[in-house]
Amino acid sequence: MGRLVAISNRIPLGDNPSGGLVVALDDALRSSGGLWVGFSGETAEAPADDLTFHDGAAFQRASFDLTPEDHDTYYLGYSNSVLWPVCHGRADLMRILPEYLDGYRRVNERIARMLVPHLRPGDRIWVQDYQLFPLAQELRRLGVTAPIGHFLHIPFPGPTDCATLPNPAELFDWLSHYDLVGFQAQRDLDNFAASARSLSDLEQLSDNRFRVAERDMRAGVFPIGIDAQAFLAEAEGAREEDRMRSLTGAQIMIGVDRLDYSKGIPQRFRAFQALLEGDPSLTEKVMLLQIAPPTRESVDAYQQIREETEHLAGRINGQFATVNWTPIRFIHRPIPRNELAGLYRQARIGLVTPLADGMNLVAKEYVAAQDPADPGVLILSRFAGAAEAMTEALIINPHDPGELAQAMHQAIAMPLDERRSRHAALLRGVVEQDVGWWSKTYLDALA
Ligand code: ADP
Ligand code: F6P
Repeated sequence: MGRLVAISNRIPLGDNPSGGLVVALDDALRSSGGLWVGFSGETAEAPADDLTFHDGAAFQRASFDLTPEDHDTYYLGYSNSVLWPVCHGRADLMRILPEYLDGYRRVNERIARMLVPHLRPGDRIWVQDYQLFPLAQELRRLGVTAPIGHFLHIPFPGPTDCATLPNPAELFDWLSHYDLVGFQAQRDLDNFAASARSLSDLEQLSDNRFRVAERDMRAGVFPIGIDAQAFLAEAEGAREEDRMRSLTGAQIMIGVDRLDYSKGIPQRFRAFQALLEGDPSLTEKVMLLQIAPPTRESVDAYQQIREETEHLAGRINGQFATVNWTPIRFIHRPIPRNELAGLYRQARIGLVTPLADGMNLVAKEYVAAQDPADPGVLILSRFAGAAEAMTEALIINPHDPGELAQAMHQAIAMPLDERRSRHAALLRGVVEQDVGWWSKTYLDALA
């Protein structure tokens, strides 16, 4: 079997990567070996026009730099100010500038040019996520005939959202050059088929086969997972001193998300506020620990969500805190994964309440980290891809603070038996459909 060549916008070259894609791909490549290519995170006025190889991982890694202009137009611009908001149902936050699409096409063309000399016969190419939609088309233009697959980590928009893109038909043209396009959830495949029907020339041949201009393309659902065994071990081994002290007595609710407007953090805080308002006996008995590392901070919408979140946490703390108790603890930075695992295990409630999310790996990490003898309760948004399989969680609508507060109440009061049975069913799914299962199922289908 040939080498796996994975390409993503971001490649982690340091410690503590956050973001579902890098965490999952790191796990997948550790077991299969191969080559991972991605953006170094560095900008330079005149970056080298070749890949830079790095040692020190179980697989080969190669990175490239971007010019500041390309970073602005391709990454902050078209990827994160056009595609990201549209795919997450927030077309109102989209910013359309002509240079964004030019930069996006230019960077994809450059990545293809840099990659081709390093390809070997027998390689399988696996392109990750929305930053790289045009890459297969560019590689085909350069004569690459290897199998090329794409996996979309974020939701695929339905026809109404898709139609807000500057040139929606081009999105389907880009995707039609892949042999296999993978989605996180059935809802995404359904949206893809419906949007393709209304906005493109793609002809649907069957549930998962499409054709355009004599090119055939397949699509499928491959829900991403985590390295459950490793996470379990991490949580069991979490050192006592890494756990939260000074909190004895208060039940912890934990939220772990990049500080992104799609994650529903303000809605979560408002529901927590409603919980405390509705039940004064919870004073000093519960706390919300929100760990939210910064992301895409030069995009206006991200500055706004940071301000809104900090303001809200301050207001709620001002309203309810006592000299011994701060109801919301807000940490705005990444933390080491072993520490994270220990905190999940210590938390009685896992809050995963995005307004839109491809999968959400935090939901799976929270379940894997629990002590099966005394597990916590997962509260999960119906708008996370994870909700399709994790039906034993408390499934909620994150827009409704009353419903979410009610679920928090139910989780606090849930008897041990019910917690155990819900957790056992959730854990089975997380272990069966782990990251190894995800990459194997996808790559078998690509083959
Ligand atoms: P997304 O891909 O949108 O960021 P996911 O929930 O799928 O969302 O994945 C987030 C990943 O990033 C998880 O593996 C999570 O553990 C990790 N992560 C999130 N916040 C932090 C943090 N503060 N420190 C370390 N890792 C984090
Ligand atoms: O999973 C979605 C995703 O956009 C990945 O492509 C990305 O690595 C991760 O979230 C974090 O985002 P960013 O790389 O823009 O910080």
